[in-house]
Amino acid sequence: MSQKVVINTDIQKGTINKNIYGHFAEHLGRCIYEGFWVGEDSSMDHTNGIRNDVVAALKNLNIPVLRWPGGCFADEYHWKDGVGPRESRKRMVNTHWGGVVENNHFGTHEFMMLCEMLETEPYICGNVGSGTVQEMSEWVEYMTFDGESPMANWRKENGREKSWELKYFGVGNENWGCGGNMRPEFYADLYRQYQTYVRNYGENKLYKIAGGANVDDYRWTETLMREAGWLMDGLSLHYYTIPGDFFKGKGSALDPSEKEWYITMQKALHMDELITKHSTIMDKYDPEKRVGLIIDEWGTWFDVEPGTNPGFLYQQNTIRDSLVAGLHFHIFHKHSERVQMANIAQTVNVLQAMILTEGEKMILTPTYHVFEMFKVHQDAVKLDIDVSSSLYELNGEQLPSVSVSASMKDGQIHVSFCHVDHQNSTSIQIDLRGIEKNLGEITGRILTADQTNAHNTFEHPDQVKPVAYNDFTVSDHQIELRLPPMSVGVLTIG
Ligand code: AHR
Repeated sequence: MSQKVVINTDIQKGTINKNIYGHFAEHLGRCIYEGFWVGEDSSMDHTNGIRNDVVAALKNLNIPVLRWPGGCFADEYHWKDGVGPRESRKRMVNTHWGGVVENNHFGTHEFMMLCEMLETEPYICGNVGSGTVQEMSEWVEYMTFDGESPMANWRKENGREKSWELKYFGVGNENWGCGGNMRPEFYADLYRQYQTYVRNYGENKLYKIAGGANVDDYRWTETLMREAGWLMDGLSLHYYTIPGDFFKGKGSALDPSEKEWYITMQKALHMDELITKHSTIMDKYDPEKRVGLIIDEWGTWFDVEPGTNPGFLYQQNTIRDSLVAGLHFHIFHKHSERVQMANIAQTVNVLQAMILTEGEKMILTPTYHVFEMFKVHQDAVKLDIDVSSSLYELNGEQLPSVSVSASMKDGQIHVSFCHVDHQNSTSIQIDLRGIEKNLGEITGRILTADQTNAHNTFEHPDQVKPVAYNDFTVSDHQIELRLPPMSVGVLTIG
């Protein structure tokens, strides 16, 4: 069955903010420790304690922004415990994630160094749930004040003379849950108070992000926008793709039934409805769309890999995850006027990761490959698109079987596609309307598999990786793509 896509190359729909390709790294399981930080005494290849292999792989994604230190961890993190000589840093219990000892060896200086190595913007989340206004205010002073002050002097004593540039600052995380179990009215008042003392020092201008809603908690968004909208630059939203039930069993990462595959796609697509409804509420208070919707946690969440610490949230990553990633990016592109940033959870070894490590070994996941193929959309001009998709049906339910998005940068058009049907091939007729000249050279890459649980392992790291794609025919300004089941890819035109 063929499907029609019209790309109006002469109708531009603004810019796709590169920050929607952002990341999140929490003190959770083996994300920070082992994933990034191995310490200065490690025998592994590292720079000042940070793994060089992981940094090199992530640099290839052009990571625009990295959120840290949590997540739930952020609202029990006391930053002062994580600066100064490492051997004398206070140890704490990471109560949320496995009850393990956190030695605070990776703190503010190490995180800022990591961001410099990745050439990415830091996004720091402050502690509202169990921290004070003074503590948050002093953290910002420590990082961004360049003059003479108690915190700036302390930073200098700790080895960093110049202040850091910091733009993105979150005032708490999930304050409806692990960040304090607050009502939106209460958090809105706290947000107003805390953010007052989150100061702009010198040239450093912060973009303040208020803790936002869980999934479809529209009352939270309404209350925050009404009570504090004018005091924020961004408002967050968290939504995870969980095929099962969060408490009773989320579903297996590696062994999805046909139904679970289908439900995963359905739930990934639900992000569109959530953004639409939260944005509509934001439009009421902010019709100019000044305040960004910041989707700073998203991705798949399955049952942990059998035999691993349940508090470490380690899961394998398959072709299914790659489709979830591709669908999310298309939804974020669609809403790019409101969605100013998104951060997948999480970068290494946790949930829908880019990278998995085992000792010195490292593998790239199918999700990594989507971020790599789709990076061409970062800061590109979005093109108007009309997709008439055929339906992917299971047990009497229906979903669009393809999703397509297009952008233009440096004289080239990039068309990304996701085909979610796990069984049947399809074809898409793409009409590139509004171009006078010939289309020029067309190249493509595709990620696909013949099993719904195809994934990479430390023994077989390249089972799922992009390959050249040329199963298309071009005639004038039309391209017909033939797509295998379970496929995601990008065409480059011109
Ligand atoms: O990403 C894992 C956890 O999920 C985060 O710490 C929390 O914010 C969310 O509930």
